[in-house]
Amino acid sequence: MRRPLIAGNWKMNTDHAAAVSLAEGVAKGAGDIDKADLLVCPPFIYLESVAKALDSSPVALGAQNMYAQPNGAFTGETSASMLTDVGAEYVILGHSERRNIIGETDGMVNEKTLAALEAGLVPIVCVGELLEQREASKTGEVIAQQFAGSLAGLSADQVGKTVIAYEPVWAIGTGKVATPEQAEEVHADLRRLLAESYNGEIAEKVRILYGGSVKPGNAAELISQPNVDGALVGGASLKPDDFLGIAAAV
Ligand code: PGA
Repeated sequence: MRRPLIAGNWKMNTDHAAAVSLAEGVAKGAGDIDKADLLVCPPFIYLESVAKALDSSPVALGAQNMYAQPNGAFTGETSASMLTDVGAEYVILGHSERRNIIGETDGMVNEKTLAALEAGLVPIVCVGELLEQREASKTGEVIAQQFAGSLAGLSADQVGKTVIAYEPVWAIGTGKVATPEQAEEVHADLRRLLAESYNGEIAEKVRILYGGSVKPGNAAELISQPNVDGALVGGASLKPDDFLGIAAAV
């Protein structure tokens, strides 16, 4: 059985005091959550302070991005080993905001995914279609292309250590959540792609999260879908009660 993962993507929000207090709030309520793993992904600059605030709680720490090279002359970038050094266990890669605003390609996401795995981080690889792609019935094609491009060259063992997040771009931060049926359709497709590209055992093992306007009120229905193994939460991860409310809905 796949244990659900509820991951909070804080994006470029909070300041130092707010990040610490949010982490403390999540850590405090985490003891009541027994059916899901919890993860928070603060901005890089607050990782270390958040790690301290989470200390001895079951809440895991993750980053929102990284660079694929291990070190060197890459001004402004952060490597995988720097993330593990401050206690991160996960890293979100290929988020649609990085793909669509910063211009990351599947190739870049692929290099980062391989580097993250090499450093012992769990990559959360995001895929998702734009509204016009959904309206043109291209969702399946877009997802398959992002899946193949982002995970190229990974061994079955490495894919088994990876988390995938399906985040329809039109549902992110818009309040327009995918229906449970829409989410399940893409998640089932992703699981079929895993089985075809690797094997059935790996396909059963990999957690596939849904992201896009997940709230305490819609989480239960989404996560009860057979192929939805948790949530990647943006806006609602900025309030401990909302974030924990989503986890409690599992
Ligand atoms: P949202 O963001 O929950 O605010 O829609 C989700 C995400 O971008 O991961």
